[in-house]
Amino acid sequence: MNKFKTYWKIACLTGAVVLMFAACRHRYEDPTPLDIAIPYGFPSRLNIPDDNPMTVEGVELGRALFHDPHLCGYTGTNPDSLMSCASCHDRAHNYDLGPDNPRLVNGRPVGRTGKATHHNAMPLMNLVFNHEGYSWNGSICPQNVKGRQSIEDIVLMAIEADDELCSTKARTLAALRADSKYPEMFGKAFGSEEITMERVQKAIAQYVRSLVSGNSKFDRYLQGKEQLTPQELHGYILFTTEEGADCFHCHGSEGSPLFTTNLFYNNGLDNVFIDPQDRYSFTGHDADHGAYRAPSLRNVAVSAPYMHDGRFQTLDEVLNFYNQGLQPSPYVSPLMHHINDGGILLTPSEIADLKAFLNTLTDEEFLE
Ligand code: HEC
Ligand code: HEC
Repeated sequence: MNKFKTYWKIACLTGAVVLMFAACRHRYEDPTPLDIAIPYGFPSRLNIPDDNPMTVEGVELGRALFHDPHLCGYTGTNPDSLMSCASCHDRAHNYDLGPDNPRLVNGRPVGRTGKATHHNAMPLMNLVFNHEGYSWNGSICPQNVKGRQSIEDIVLMAIEADDELCSTKARTLAALRADSKYPEMFGKAFGSEEITMERVQKAIAQYVRSLVSGNSKFDRYLQGKEQLTPQELHGYILFTTEEGADCFHCHGSEGSPLFTTNLFYNNGLDNVFIDPQDRYSFTGHDADHGAYRAPSLRNVAVSAPYMHDGRFQTLDEVLNFYNQGLQPSPYVSPLMHHINDGGILLTPSEIADLKAFLNTLTDEEFLE
């Protein structure tokens, strides 16, 4: 009888130890808070929601998910049925499409099923400094009545949209749960190994917010670390003067180093406005016909194709448009001071200087 009691005690103790080990195995430390390194001269006000603080482990997980070809809900290896965010937002191209992307058809990306997106893709860079709304028309913002307000919301939209990843929550979650690396990564980022769509959205949004570009030749010039060539300097002067190329009102300069105001303008591309997803479609303000968010010109040399509809394949085409292709209409932004001349009317050598300056905005470190 006594012997039996001892066995029973030993069995209980062993059981307790096993249970303790099991519990320990699933306990994770709190993730490490991540402070975004704000580049020289950049604004310090960041757009980070209170319920999704940046962490080292969250960004690490987000990076893996952003590039995971199974994010579209397929577990096979056939490249034609695989797609991730990186299929359209390619790091080497400023997280934009880039001119040679196999997904690029007629200036616009096609989603997993071959359906084209309504607009050209956008670069994903310095979005943590943008407080004016996301997407070309800025409709992803706190005023969106359909609840599409944040980068977290964009993640789910991209996963479900029939012109993007064309998946469902259930399919994508099943594909991610089939990958043995994720439980631990979710554990480290969120405290437990559970893989939920809310966590997928949060992690990818953290990764997107971590994409900060501020180390171009031009930045090093502002800090006195590198010199611009006379041609680049002349291009810079043209960029920032009204009688020159007059670009700075909308695309910023050293005073607003994001190289965009992140605001919305009609820059004279067209004189008939039929796009059902321009800025007007969101605000209903007459002045917003044909208006879109001014893209940042950082890394612009590698972000082709250009404009909301991808109509220009090269920077030369863009500069040719601003030089002599402006279309007058009642909706052109009053900041397009040269509209009545049809363009800024620079000489070919001045245009070459302006282009040389734009090329100094490339941040090789960011694109690597
Ligand atoms: C098929 C190509 C495609 C895929 C795949 C794709 N996107 Fe996009 N993305 C776009 C297009 C096109 C836009 C511009 C939408 C618009 O404004 O009409 C965009 C815009 C965005 C924006 C807004 C950027 C800004 O400056 O406002 C974010 C953020 C974004 N995408 C993140 C993602 C994430 C995260 C994923 C993966 C879950 C993803 N995208 C997958 C094509 C794509
Ligand atoms: C009135 C504001 C305004 C001015 C001034 C202006 N732009 Fe723009 N720019 C925009 C807007 C808005 C867009 C996006 C338009 C669209 O897609 O329909 C844009 C788009 C661009 C693009 C394409 C970027 C991309 O990623 O697709 C480039 C390059 C560009 N502008 C360069 C310039 C240069 C160079 C100048 C000076 C010669 C200039 N802009 C003057 C507002 C402006």
